[in-house]
Amino acid sequence: MLRRLHKDQPASFEFTPLNLEWARGQISKYPEGRQASAIIPLLWRAQEQEGWLTRPAIEYVADMLGMAYIRALEVATFYFMFQLQPVGSIAHIQVCGTTSCMICGAEELIAVCKELIAPTPHTLSADGKFSWEEVECMGACANAPMAQIGKDYYEDLTADRLRELIMRFARGEVPTPGPQNGRYAAEPLAGLTALKDFESGRRQFNGSVQRAVDIGDTVKKIDGSEVPILTPWRR
Ligand code: FES
Repeated sequence: MLRRLHKDQPASFEFTPLNLEWARGQISKYPEGRQASAIIPLLWRAQEQEGWLTRPAIEYVADMLGMAYIRALEVATFYFMFQLQPVGSIAHIQVCGTTSCMICGAEELIAVCKELIAPTPHTLSADGKFSWEEVECMGACANAPMAQIGKDYYEDLTADRLRELIMRFARGEVPTPGPQNGRYAAEPLAGLTALKDFESGRRQFNGSVQRAVDIGDTVKKIDGSEVPILTPWRR
């Protein structure tokens, strides 16, 4: 896939004050002269703040790190996790289309995205709220088919369930991530056959879902106020 900067770019970018403090903390992890090592976390934070990675953001990060723009552009265009075009204001939906998900119904999920969002990937829906793309295996094959929506995994999906999730996100809700068919995690569909006493002591959700529910940033833009800035040597 050809990865280029989008034709429409905003005039400027800057980190929020707290994201800037966070970014400076990341840079301080590296020895003098090696600041460029912080490029990926800084580009990622810029994307978390804006939703996608704009040219002004890439150049702003390059300036912070004392890098030539082309070096930062090489990183941004190489990694598919960086979105180089605008994404939905509510959510960007990444549907896994690799083998396990494909044979369990990924094509039906993609058909829902085409119908409800846009006929082509990396394209905003008419109301600007959603975008979608097909991605490679996201390591949740035991819960196929699945999609990442915002930061979290929605697993054991059906076309109807994905349709319902998109409707709920559009209403401003954040549906609970994880298995969508009643499974706790990735246990057999017919229930556990061993380690059954695990069932009695477990929390409401599996670890990943519990963490997602606790943090609550599934589709949130990150301005730096959400998490402590863990670089105590800078205080
Ligand atoms: S094939 Fe979809 S998560 Fe692995």
